[in-house]
Amino acid sequence: MTEVLVTGGAGYIGSHMCVELLQAGYDVVVADNLSNSSARSLQAVQRITQKPLSFVEMDIRDEERLAALFRSHRFDAVLHFAGLKAVAESVAEPLRYYDNNVNGTLRLVEAMSSAGVKTLVFSSSATVYGTQERVPIDESAGTAPTNPYGRTKLQVEQLLHDLGDADAQWRISLLRYFNPVGAHPSGEIGEDPNDIPNNLMPYIAQVAIGRLPCLRVFGDDYATADGTGVRDYIHVVDLVNGHLRALDYLQANTGVAVHNLGSGRGHSVLEVIAAFERASGRPIAHEVVARRPGDVARSFADPGKANRELNWTATHDLERICQDAWKWQTRHPDGYRTA
Ligand code: NAD
Ligand code: WQD
Repeated sequence: MTEVLVTGGAGYIGSHMCVELLQAGYDVVVADNLSNSSARSLQAVQRITQKPLSFVEMDIRDEERLAALFRSHRFDAVLHFAGLKAVAESVAEPLRYYDNNVNGTLRLVEAMSSAGVKTLVFSSSATVYGTQERVPIDESAGTAPTNPYGRTKLQVEQLLHDLGDADAQWRISLLRYFNPVGAHPSGEIGEDPNDIPNNLMPYIAQVAIGRLPCLRVFGDDYATADGTGVRDYIHVVDLVNGHLRALDYLQANTGVAVHNLGSGRGHSVLEVIAAFERASGRPIAHEVVARRPGDVARSFADPGKANRELNWTATHDLERICQDAWKWQTRHPDGYRTA
């Protein structure tokens, strides 16, 4: 049996990853400090899969506990989701972001190296591309992140490239996610923001359920078909399946590989609102306000490289994304606080 370590496995994307890993027959150990998640997600993962997983509540910057973890298991690979991800927070607290995301990854790969575990899948982000004039965006586009969060992701990518150059035994997959959204079709796990959501889809879901009164649409004067921002929304189950394909790819390939994980389609804010209204059967109150600083008009992936090299493609469309997000929201109106 292949055993993998999932850092940040209690979080939104990590918990969906655990479901697919267990269902694919992997043994799974999660390391998470629960700084932005609940262990209830992992109970739900085990209910969905009817399979056990091991959970270690720990910070990945804790070198002693990390070394002990690698001594007590023989991991074949690590999927590294642990990190902080809020753009505005990263502007206000850059040191916390650099310490958690860059230093955390450094500690992790040091422990991996000492233990001789040299296969890693890393959660990078399309945010490393910064502002791009041309869409779709492929992996050869330049990188110029516009905020500290994005710079931590790019620095980790660079660190891992240097590691791969120095030691040919490493097998590293850098996956650049576009906009992960939706929830597991069971409705048992999903995105559970701590405060008022920053991102569009969880915000809309909370307006639909009545937790928030009204969505603010950040600008309708962009050079897009309806004037609102266009993004590449990818179903979280498609996204994590891309990681399974990346693990297969790493079995056959050493070195460092970079792949976009996106659907290749762009949807405007107004299109997302309309799709969520259809999925929920409820009107989504919204008003247009000024643009959000730092936002770009359009961003969507060219997923061709992942299609070809990972044999992966996104299969869930926006309607399905909204249906699954709504199922999670209605079953868990207060997220994991709903028993
Ligand atoms: P999340 O906050 O739900 O999950 C991250 C998990 O990591 C949480 O459970 C948190 O408690 C844990 N964690 C954070 N720091 C830790 C540390 N030092 N030690 C141990 N555990 C720690 O976020 P998510 O949306 O699931 O994102 C997962 C990864 O994907 C992150 O690295 C994020 O930057 C990246 N990513 C997310 C998106 C997105 O829109 N959700 C887009 C691109 C990339
Ligand atoms: C989507 C669209 C907004 C909220 C962010 C991070 C990125 C990545 C994914 C981690 C935009 C509009 C939003 C609202 C709105 N995360 N919007 N009202 O900004 O594309 O990407 O999440 O790596 O790094 O920057 O996603 O969901 O915030 O916004 O009108 O209340 O919805 O202007 O056009 P974004 P988002």
